[in-house]
Amino acid sequence: MTDTPATAPVDVCGVEALPDGGVVRYDGPGVTAPISVFHVDGELYAIDDTCSHARESLADGWVEDCAVECPRHASAFDLRTGEPSGPPAIRPVRTHRVEVVDGRVVVHVGTPRT
Ligand code: FES
Repeated sequence: MTDTPATAPVDVCGVEALPDGGVVRYDGPGVTAPISVFHVDGELYAIDDTCSHARESLADGWVEDCAVECPRHASAFDLRTGEPSGPPAIRPVRTHRVEVVDGRVVVHVGTPRT
């Protein structure tokens, strides 16, 4: 399997498809594993979609206080850092830099959020 280059920009969707409180899961060209983009209190956050514990989609999770709770076993991942709140997940998920370019949500897969 070939990894995506560290700064490959991926056009995920138009901004109209991601209102505040929303999430978009993306598994198309430019990624080797799904990513999810969350819109929370006016900020966009992109992370790996798959929980680091047991391959659950985090896009299906509950978002509160800038963290998404995995729907399967309830570890919560900080959307800013990807760090889990506690077991059963012990490894973080990757974060990715995200920006809006000409009305499109663009994720730089492999470039961590700073
Ligand atoms: S699958 Fe996510 S915490 Fe277990």
